[in-house]
Amino acid sequence: MFDEASIKDTVGDPSGVCLAEVGNMRLGGGNYNSILARGDNDLVLDALGARFHRMVRCIYIDPPYNNMESYAHYDDRDRHDVWISKLTRHVERLKNFLSEDGSIWISIDDHQVHYLKVALDQIFGRENFVSTIIWEHRKTRENRRAFSNNHEYVLVYAVDANLFKRRRNKLPYDETVKARFKNPDNDPRGPWQSISLNVQAGHATRSQFHEITAPNGKRHTPPAGRCWMYTAEKVLDLIEDNRIWFGKDGDGVPRLKRFLDEIEGGLTPQTLWRADEVGTTDTAKKDVLRLLPGETVFDTPKPEQLIERIIEISTNPGDMVLDSFLGSGTTASVALRTGRRFIGIERGEHMISHCHHRLKCLAEKYGSGVRYFEVQGIL
Ligand SMILES: C[S@@+](CC[C@H](N)C(=O)[O-])C[C@H]1O[C@@H](n2cnc3c(N)ncnc32)[C@H](O)[C@@H]1O
Repeated sequence: MFDEASIKDTVGDPSGVCLAEVGNMRLGGGNYNSILARGDNDLVLDALGARFHRMVRCIYIDPPYNNMESYAHYDDRDRHDVWISKLTRHVERLKNFLSEDGSIWISIDDHQVHYLKVALDQIFGRENFVSTIIWEHRKTRENRRAFSNNHEYVLVYAVDANLFKRRRNKLPYDETVKARFKNPDNDPRGPWQSISLNVQAGHATRSQFHEITAPNGKRHTPPAGRCWMYTAEKVLDLIEDNRIWFGKDGDGVPRLKRFLDEIEGGLTPQTLWRADEVGTTDTAKKDVLRLLPGETVFDTPKPEQLIERIIEISTNPGDMVLDSFLGSGTTASVALRTGRRFIGIERGEHMISHCHHRLKCLAEKYGSGVRYFEVQGIL
């Protein structure tokens, strides 16, 4: 039986990935921090449940969408009611693995997103719905249909949405954002960006309505329906500290200087994820082919950048990530590369031909930098 005792028997040096096969319940020899398990995902979850109860910080799944396609590696056709009830029961199982600050991210398409959302509301509670991310999964136009479908969704739920909000990570500033910070006045505090100093007057106090006198003597009042962000005293201090920008010639509307070095925490994630930032299905296919030349093309991989963004927002290095529809192994690869532990489950042959080989390549590439990987033979 693939139970806790049999897993423990295989533990030695805690720096490997354990490749397990659930079905005939054999375990690849092994030391592990992370697990690749081949088998039906419900079965594997039942086998792992006791050991990993509430230990997973992020679950990402990309289940078959029931789109009536037949792919080289799996079939995607079921009766709608069978599909939704199987997936619902599976997500109920998954919920037991999530930590109190954990979240689940589920890829889905336009046909099923609404049915799945209703099912997930019932499992997690509507109050724990976090967001629906729109991912631009293709950039080219699909001319055979009434509308070219260029996006998919990722539904995000948390065990506790408030806790998730407090603990989730912001995104790092990328080079495009950094490039918006300039230093036209050679401020010794470095590059800065100016933001509006006037705000909506809705909740303003009287002290926010005043006149600002620029160093050149020009007087500024807030536009209609707006007030200043700060009181007159505070604005004077800011002018004194060279933190108010009146434009190059000193004649412009006052704006606040925000210094790159003083901004904490990065960017709040947005809900629209562009292909240029996180890749497309096509770029993902090419990436897998490049990693595994000669292997049969896997039709529906997700791009590593997409998964990396999810993992970056929802976890920190050392946290556990779970994907129970592993496909070509994208989630496990990204987890390994970014220093997260993982549980990856896949029932197809491609657990070996794709996931296992992909992770092996990655481990070789990263050399000793990768701590978690050492599969001890295939079953
Ligand atoms: C859309 S693919 C996932 C692709 C993956 N995100 C990637 O980047 O490669 C769905 C995968 O789920 C697997 N799958 C479907 N039902 C399963 C089950 N009951 N247990 C385990 N794996 C399953 C299929 O074999 C398929 O590889």
